[in-house]
Amino acid sequence: MNLTFRQLKVFEVVARRLNFTSAAKELHLSQPAVSMQIKQLEEQANTPLIEKLGKKLYLTEVGNEMYNYARSTMQQLLDLEETISQMKSLHKGHLKLAVASTANHFVIRMLARFARVYPKISISLDVTNRSTLLELLEKNECDLVVMGRPPEGHNLTARPFLENPLVVVAHPKHYLVREKQVSLKELAREEFVIREQGSGTRSAVERFFNEHNLKFKTKMDMSNNRAIKHAAEEGLGLAIVSLHTLEIELRAKTLNIINVEGFPIYRHWYVVQREGKRLSPIAKVFKDYIMQEADGLIKDFNLPIGE
Ligand code: PGA
Repeated sequence: MNLTFRQLKVFEVVARRLNFTSAAKELHLSQPAVSMQIKQLEEQANTPLIEKLGKKLYLTEVGNEMYNYARSTMQQLLDLEETISQMKSLHKGHLKLAVASTANHFVIRMLARFARVYPKISISLDVTNRSTLLELLEKNECDLVVMGRPPEGHNLTARPFLENPLVVVAHPKHYLVREKQVSLKELAREEFVIREQGSGTRSAVERFFNEHNLKFKTKMDMSNNRAIKHAAEEGLGLAIVSLHTLEIELRAKTLNIINVEGFPIYRHWYVVQREGKRLSPIAKVFKDYIMQEADGLIKDFNLPIGE
């Protein structure tokens, strides 16, 4: 059967009213046009849907069945219209985000503020490292990603929105904390607790040491910034992490920034999406929100930027 939506709509009105004249009025069509649609529908179904006994119209058994389907199809269409209008007015919607583990702390703070402005939307958040983020983008499994600069050649659109300074930290009693400035050579003599392969922070640190013809000694690698900071607090080694992960430790003075020649290593945070991706209304709004609000939010952390 090859029935059209228009035929179904006309049938729903005729079946509800059981009167061609008033159905035609409701549909703003002529009566012959309505009769024609019904006739074509009956031809498609290859069976009568409406019968006339005396002066009254009745639905046949098949007509009755068709009426049930027509009604629920119309209702679904109305529901769809309602959903679209709610999504457009941001009263409904689902935001699928993925962020680099390092961006987790400030993005969650940002999401909390965003969710207060748009309380009806739901959010799912993947927190993972850079290489997994690229896979998620590749599989089109998220709307937006917050990460360091993505590599070329992956068909991605990326907009920078914030500086991301990487700093060296140690527990407060580490002897280098007292030094006014530490040279890179001195730094390279230390042991580090560092992020896993695949992390953007890790590759930035490797690049930095390579550029200065130095090697860094890894005591341990860990896939989690919190664990790295904890390890540094326990004196397992020095850590190089994004300043944006240090709000709590710097305030509580459980970690100190060491003033090292050439540091901070300045990276940038980007909001990234697949090229040509059609963002939902809520994803568009969130993207603008990040671009506009991130800077102010980080200032609220009171971090010693660039020191
Ligand atoms: P990561 O993130 O070190 O947590 O992978 C930073 C980045 O994307 O560069």
